Amino acid sequence: MSSPDRPQQSTDLTVTAAAAAAAPHQPRTELAVSPTERFATRTAGMTASEIRALFAVASRPEVVSLAGGMPNLAALPLQSLSSEVADLVTQDGLMALQYGSAQGVPVLREQICDVMREEGIEGDPNDVVVTVGSQMALDLLTRIFIDPGDVVLAEGPSYVGALGSFAAYQARVVHVAMDEHGLVPERLTEALRSLAAQGITPKFLYTIPNFHNPAGVTLAVERRPRILDICRDFGVMVIEDNPYGLLGFTGEVYPALRSIDADVIYLGSFSKTFASGLRVGWALVPPLVRDRLVLAAESATLCPPSFTQMLVSRYLAHHDWRSQVKTFTENYRERRDAMLAALETHLPEGCSWNVPDGGFFVWLTVPEGVDTKAMLPRAVTARVAYASGTGFYADGFGSRQLRLSFCYPTPERITEGVRRLAAVLEAELDVVRTFGTSARTELTRGPQSPSPDTT
Ligand SMILES: Cc1ncc(COP(=O)(O)O)c(C=O)c1O
Repeated sequence: MSSPDRPQQSTDLTVTAAAAAAAPHQPRTELAVSPTERFATRTAGMTASEIRALFAVASRPEVVSLAGGMPNLAALPLQSLSSEVADLVTQDGLMALQYGSAQGVPVLREQICDVMREEGIEGDPNDVVVTVGSQMALDLLTRIFIDPGDVVLAEGPSYVGALGSFAAYQARVVHVAMDEHGLVPERLTEALRSLAAQGITPKFLYTIPNFHNPAGVTLAVERRPRILDICRDFGVMVIEDNPYGLLGFTGEVYPALRSIDADVIYLGSFSKTFASGLRVGWALVPPLVRDRLVLAAESATLCPPSFTQMLVSRYLAHHDWRSQVKTFTENYRERRDAMLAALETHLPEGCSWNVPDGGFFVWLTVPEGVDTKAMLPRAVTARVAYASGTGFYADGFGSRQLRLSFCYPTPERITEGVRRLAAVLEAELDVVRTFGTSARTELTRGPQSPSPDTT
């Protein structure tokens, strides 16, 4: 029987298509399946960051955002970059606007080796794989190494984007503690022994040795070979993620783990030393890993964009990029100093934080009873935003911590933001003193997807 709501059955495809185009779209309710019921199991681990949920409010101009890890690009020479873009199109447009090699533009891979030499790495351009930001390298490496249930070691806390990729591929993250000198070798040994007792060898250690995101700490130089020896003894690969290594405030550049051990997989990025919007990062991998990684890259994007790679290449060739990095770090140091001074002046008793020597972040611990995730909506209402600590752990820890970014707002805005945060904390502490805890909302735990407001 035909229904007035449904197009007539027809074997004539032209007629059916024409009728479908003419008729308004009618959902076939008796066959309809919600696409959400078709999601792969692994997507269950994908959740939005809480600051993203508050984004509409948090991005209002009156809110001081200390949440995001956005580099401050105001110091870039935009005028000369625009001539560089024009020259790229007029001189090399037919290459820059075309598909390219899945591994990346060869001349850029050579220049990347020059950049890595700053941190003592002698890399071969043939072992460099250019990616769409180092985030893509992280995702691809997780894709090629992780089966569901595999164990990954990572500092606790760790980078939210890495935790998001690990969750997406259903890895089990075991966090290893840090102190003010970075990852603690004894804790690493303990974790590996305990896993070995269960018959488990982690697939890799994921570590951010310099100016850690979110913890702000740097791995002590004397710990570096020890960490590598421990991993070697237990047969564990190391992935070193180093987007901030050249952004030190003291002028000291630390030796990369990859400079000590050629088996380390090294991730780098132009996001913090040049321009994050170009999305150019890379992995330096042992030859045995390279071919599989290139295949994975090919299936993800065919090739990284030729245009942005060639622009980065021109920038490195024609501009004094080292002095640009110095300018960036001077700006960041000024902002770091403003944040530290404001924390010292305004924060209530019982808060503690680290003093980062580079990078973008201060990691703050608040007094017992205050829950930073529950407090976030109240902070945003008070016109200040931060990234609460739980997003940086895979296992629900971090409710007494929060990350403050000093990279983007001006020193004056940072001071004002910290003053507002201090007032919110004071109010929370009043509640704690009265009721024992400040948490008023049921919390969901676990890693969250990265976003520009939490990276
Ligand atoms: C530790 C860490 N790794 C990787 C990334 C991703 O950077 P990219 O912009 O190169 O994808 C970030 C970005 O904030 C980061 O902090």
